Amino acid sequence: MDSLIIYKSIHMGNTKKVAEAVSDVIGCEIKEPNEVENLDKYNLIGFASGVYYGDFHRSIKDFVDNTDGDGKRAFLLSTSGFRPLPFVHNYEEKMRKRLKENGFEFLGSFTCRGSDRYGPLKFFGGLHMSRPNESDLDNAKKFAEEMKKYVR
Ligand SMILES: Cc1cc2nc3c(=O)[nH]c(=O)nc-3n(C[C@H](O)[C@H](O)[C@H](O)COP(=O)(O)O)c2cc1C
Repeated sequence: MDSLIIYKSIHMGNTKKVAEAVSDVIGCEIKEPNEVENLDKYNLIGFASGVYYGDFHRSIKDFVDNTDGDGKRAFLLSTSGFRPLPFVHNYEEKMRKRLKENGFEFLGSFTCRGSDRYGPLKFFGGLHMSRPNESDLDNAKKFAEEMKKYVR
């Protein structure tokens, strides 16, 4: 069985960088949701997204909602301008719940800050313009080593 990372990275390419770092360690492909026909040959799936309005991209959420996880193992990757916070900015928690509701086995999640020039931020030179940085990508690779243990 294979592994796959399904990603959406529409703003600065931040999440794609993280997804590529993780895929290098696991040795898997990365694809956008519309490039995935079905998950039959995969048993470990990463869902990766920038955070937009407090949540993963609609195409990733729709993909999960329209898929029977069938006990497949899944993990999350994300980049956001602001860190997660309970109740008010809980994008990882919302996706974790969504994965479980659709039959996936949730393994864990990795998030880091990403450069953000959305809306008024661009008038102030943007936020965290050098992230994800080397240290973020190293942390993503450490997380990937953990996920790799689940490749059968
Ligand atoms: C339309 C839009 C909405 C965003 N909403 C949020 C948000 O609710 N919370 C947050 O922390 N960052 C938010 N951001 C910043 C992005 O999460 C951040 O720039 C992320 O790294 C983008 O990932 P990407 O380059 O892979 O698209 C938003 C960015 C855009 C473009």
